[in-house]
Amino acid sequence: MGPGQLLEQESASVKNVSAYNRQAWDGLVGRGNQWTLPVTDDQVDAARRGSWEVVLTPLKPVPRGWFGELAGARILCLAGAGGQQGPILAAAGAKVTVLDNSPAQLARDEQVARRHGLDVRTELGLMQDLSRFPDGSFDLVFHPVSNCFVQDVLPVWREAFRVLVPGGRMLAGFCNPVLFGFDPNATGEQALTWKYRLPYSDLGSRSPQDLERHMASGEPLEFGHSLEDQIGGQLRAGFVLGQMFEDTAMDWELAEYFPPFIATLALKPGGKV
Ligand SMILES: C[S@@+](CC[C@H](N)C(=O)[O-])C[C@H]1O[C@@H](n2cnc3c(N)ncnc32)[C@H](O)[C@@H]1O
Repeated sequence: MGPGQLLEQESASVKNVSAYNRQAWDGLVGRGNQWTLPVTDDQVDAARRGSWEVVLTPLKPVPRGWFGELAGARILCLAGAGGQQGPILAAAGAKVTVLDNSPAQLARDEQVARRHGLDVRTELGLMQDLSRFPDGSFDLVFHPVSNCFVQDVLPVWREAFRVLVPGGRMLAGFCNPVLFGFDPNATGEQALTWKYRLPYSDLGSRSPQDLERHMASGEPLEFGHSLEDQIGGQLRAGFVLGQMFEDTAMDWELAEYFPPFIATLALKPGGKV
């Protein structure tokens, strides 16, 4: 699919972006991207013994207290495949559903789950449409950095809120939108040269030639949502924010200057928190 086809019809663009990004993420699995590498057998065994950690952002482990009681909790790993957090949370005692747009990423979770007999169910689908799940289906939504791959993040928050029980929790990781102002491939002084107007969109901010090059490289399409959509969007969906932290990343010059990732713990009011 080329840029022309992607931009052809406004109404078809969610479908087109998702179709393109499905191929792109399947391709990243083949190329061994770090977010497609499943956990080891030792990590699963340790999680069974109570020793585990998972991330929502590149480096900092999520504080254990953010999870509440994990034994028997129904967890939705939202756009969180890759054989990483899903199997660990299941080994720690949760009943896990992993929903993701990439069959190859989901296959990672299936492989680890089969090998270890873990309670992990996989669903191929879009994070912005959880209509297959009735209201109140989950106790916890675990959403690692991935909403940069959709054009509109507000439906993601609304759907996450709907599928949680009252008193349920959403743990989310996302990008600080400022990072999208810079050219990720630039180095030296250029790394800190402001390049793009925010909010950033791979479809709207790049020149047609640059977009063509980007898509030819097989990289996913990304969108840099405003903090108003990321944080205000959670609040408008009905969540109450409980905690947050910022995180950095290794091997990325920009991250030496500011922490480009944010994680939030949000609560759905009601029930037992
Ligand atoms: C960086 S990976 C996140 C998973 C990883 N385990 C982690 O810790 O970050 C981003 C994931 O988002 C998924 N994704 C992208 N667009 C999606 C969409 N519209 N709906 C569901 N999943 C999507 C990709 O297939 C990919 O598995």
